[in-house]
Amino acid sequence: MNHQASFTALLGGNRAVPVVTFGTVEDAAPVGRALLEGGVGVIEVTLRTPAGIEALRRLKAECPSLVLGAGTVLDTSQAEAAVAAGARFLVSPGHTDKLVSCAKDIGVPWMLGATSLSEVMGLREQGFLVQKFFPAEPAGGTAVLKAIGSVLPDVKFCPTGGISAEKARDYLALPNIIAVGGSWFVPSSGIDLAAVTAAARQAAATLNEAA
Ligand code: 3PG
Repeated sequence: MNHQASFTALLGGNRAVPVVTFGTVEDAAPVGRALLEGGVGVIEVTLRTPAGIEALRRLKAECPSLVLGAGTVLDTSQAEAAVAAGARFLVSPGHTDKLVSCAKDIGVPWMLGATSLSEVMGLREQGFLVQKFFPAEPAGGTAVLKAIGSVLPDVKFCPTGGISAEKARDYLALPNIIAVGGSWFVPSSGIDLAAVTAAARQAAATLNEAA
């Protein structure tokens, strides 16, 4: 299966990916259940905190229907640990030669990050046809993605960084956007499970494929 088909299959109808940074592993399963209750079936757990890997393990055990991804993957040992913990896809904010070569062998699809045409072309040459566009808003947002799409229409993006539920619609209206990611589902200010479910419900109704 090719890179793009792998992501399309994993995402199913999900077009909004909650990017969640857990401060404590105890929050993982309740957040996973709150997302599922609202109709969102995917999560990207960032590895920015020590809780990240164990959060993936808990989600795998307690929310088996949630498609798990690991984000902010900065080195190959994090990638291997994340896959062993249950991540079915990986995400990095940028890319390095080491990550590219690991991504070719690791066995799960990996969205490496790019924001310039040269970076996008370099990854495209190596078969990475789904890329993370980060930080989306500071890097030029929909205007830049539209321009990239006019010359490289075969590369699809998951933009994240500064995207709100409202802005997500504008990104998803572009033909080269496979999904958008964002932390708006679970703000860093604190976890409110009812608000997580409400955000998921709104995303499922207004952003996901069947909407
Ligand atoms: C990410 O890791 O993709 C971003 O931190 C998400 O960006 P946001 O917090 O601005 O939504």
